[in-house]
Amino acid sequence: MEIVNARLRKKSALHTLVIEQGHFTSITEQSADVAANAEQIDAAGQLACAPFVEPHIHLDAALTAGEPHWNQSGTLFEGIERWGERKPLLNEADIRRRALQTIELLVQNGVQYIRTHADVSDPSLVGLRTLCALRDELADKIEIQVVAFPQEGLLSFPGGLALMEEALQVGADVIGGIPHFEYTRELGEASMKKVIELALEYDRLVDVHCDEIDDPNSRFLEVLAAEALFKQLGNRVTASHTTAMGSYDNAYCSKLFRLLKKSGINFVSCPTESIHLQGRFDSYPKRRGLTRVKELNAADINVCFGQDSIFDPWYSLGNGKLLRSLDFGLHICQMMGYADFSSALDFISDNSAKTLNVEHRYGIELGKPGHFILLDGEDDYAVIRQQGEVLLSVRYGEIIMQREKAKRLTDNWIDVGD
Ligand code: FE2
Repeated sequence: MEIVNARLRKKSALHTLVIEQGHFTSITEQSADVAANAEQIDAAGQLACAPFVEPHIHLDAALTAGEPHWNQSGTLFEGIERWGERKPLLNEADIRRRALQTIELLVQNGVQYIRTHADVSDPSLVGLRTLCALRDELADKIEIQVVAFPQEGLLSFPGGLALMEEALQVGADVIGGIPHFEYTRELGEASMKKVIELALEYDRLVDVHCDEIDDPNSRFLEVLAAEALFKQLGNRVTASHTTAMGSYDNAYCSKLFRLLKKSGINFVSCPTESIHLQGRFDSYPKRRGLTRVKELNAADINVCFGQDSIFDPWYSLGNGKLLRSLDFGLHICQMMGYADFSSALDFISDNSAKTLNVEHRYGIELGKPGHFILLDGEDDYAVIRQQGEVLLSVRYGEIIMQREKAKRLTDNWIDVGD
């Protein structure tokens, strides 16, 4: 496969990309536009970018909004209640159907790597077993990591620890946790130590729903980061949400950031979900309920954006578009400067690949797998400003999704000049 007239991120010249036997074998700068021949793909000056990465989604819950009842208040707690009503209806066929539809939706929007959480607070582990089976079945089409997520608590839920160990034996790639939901601070801390212990014992990655609450006293992140540091797990560990950090005072954060930086752990923020679910106990002023994405990024700590939910009891919108999450994130976290826009796609591509520990096989570079997407816009700024569509998605040199740019059927109504 040969692609001409492609722009690459942070480079102004046009490039020709060649993919042979599934890998990039040539990436060369062009001195000018070239006319594409019949065998070549003409990128027409659009941006070629490494595929989008969805670092945080719950495929077992996706597409269940309104079943059997809608979350009318929109709160996290009513979401848990509504999910409790939907959970007894779960079975393999149901999860499989919805997960496949959601994965396809993500593929249509340029995603080629997914980290999904699976609720393991269920003795049958049907969600985890189904998602692990799908991961294996789709391995040649898309890369999926499955997190064993103890929604009801690792140590507070009866049998929670045994279910986690079973989930790891079934084949979960990543160990999850939910320390702020454990009954006590002590249980929350103990759960973080246990998660790291299991990561070492089973040689797995870690991704914890950590401090997803507006409580400024929810400080399990420091326990997770310290354990990761002491056990030298570094970037194999991820803290998702950490919304309490939006309520921490600056003196504590200043001390905390020293540890976070040293530990080398990753962060995932889900802007649409958090702006919707957090701040619910505030009247006014009302907190934004997001972690300190701008400050983490400025401190050179790896942070990325995910969607979390698509049409489920916690969030009844969502369309598979990470560009939408990015748009929300940039606004809510006040990352709206020229420099922010110029590298903003990092938050849904390169940074997310680091979080998933796939960066060694990710990116438009010689010798790496021939995966890329083509975006409607010539650089990060243009793609974000115009909310550009994903026009093409290529995996190992094969087109897996292509769409035409929307075409307007009328001339200008107003004379805008030249
Ligand atoms: Fe989540």
